[in-house]
Amino acid sequence: MTKRISLTRYLVEQQRVDGLIPSQLRLLLEVVARACKSISHAVNKGALGGVLGTADSENVQGEIQKKLDIIANEVLIEANEWGGHLAAMASEEMDGIYLVPNRYPQGEYLLLFDPLDGSSNIDVNVSIGTIFSVLKKPEGDRGVEESDFLQPGTQQVAAGYCIYGPQTTLVLTVGDGVAMFTLDREQGSFVLTDENVRIPEDTKEFAINMSNMRHWDAPVKRYIDECLQGKDGPRGKDFNMRWIASMVADVHRILTRGGIFMYPWDKREPSKPGKLRLMYEANPMGWLVEQAGGAATNGRQRILDIQPTQLHERVSVILGSKNEVERVTAYHSAL
Ligand code: AHG
Ligand code: MN
Ligand code: MN
Repeated sequence: MTKRISLTRYLVEQQRVDGLIPSQLRLLLEVVARACKSISHAVNKGALGGVLGTADSENVQGEIQKKLDIIANEVLIEANEWGGHLAAMASEEMDGIYLVPNRYPQGEYLLLFDPLDGSSNIDVNVSIGTIFSVLKKPEGDRGVEESDFLQPGTQQVAAGYCIYGPQTTLVLTVGDGVAMFTLDREQGSFVLTDENVRIPEDTKEFAINMSNMRHWDAPVKRYIDECLQGKDGPRGKDFNMRWIASMVADVHRILTRGGIFMYPWDKREPSKPGKLRLMYEANPMGWLVEQAGGAATNGRQRILDIQPTQLHERVSVILGSKNEVERVTAYHSAL
């Protein structure tokens, strides 16, 4: 029989052998995985669980919240606040940071999440997910402040996502490559199904919302235009296109078979640097992609090197197969 390695065993072994995961971080990751399992169950119930549809509220980004955005946010908070491994949390669905209540012990980590990514796909039964990023609280005895979260992506100590699709899969990095764990529903546990995820350096597949083409900047237009010219154009090969409108699902495809994903700045809201959020979307996904041999930039610089100035800061995102990301990035400096 093939040996099955559970997430718990994987984390224990990483802690024991490589010393990569301190025990508090191991506990944190187990708790996040448990919360994702619970969100996965709610997603699977769909209309039967009364979880579809819109809530009567807006988040700090001015987006109408779906019921599942709120449910997933609550599940993550309730699972994580009492274990003693965290000092504070931040979420796409909360305006400010969430301090661990005084009645619980305080840990040394900060957890950021997009509780439900791909909200527009919830009601249409298309893959969605949860994205998370873990930082260390700065040294010192004072209470946590929002500014403590404003650390560049290079400071992440763990990052990952859980995709709720035909399978529920947890994808994780602690800085030693990328591992994937598939949820075994009968056993109720995540089982290691890929421990050396690699993104091919070249690709013939791009992901971008083409309906925004008229709003893009010249370098992005140039890149896509060259892809669309196919075999007869400057690239000398035909390209395929995918756009799922759930970043988790697009990134999962790229981690599985390569590709390039772009949500660039566009002229619709010129004052915003992009649509996606740096701290709980671009940073964790950027680190995962880099850990799998890919690259992630905003067109001008590596995503992970950006010094955040706001919790809900937005950013232009270009990530995936290394050679394609480098090409788009080079087009930005050429123009
Ligand atoms: P969220 O549901 O957390 O707000 O994120 C949705 C994001 C991302 O997952 C996806 O790539 C993008 O928005 C889709 O945007 P468009 O609908 O503009 O294509
Ligand atoms: Mn999202
Ligand atoms: Mn979301």
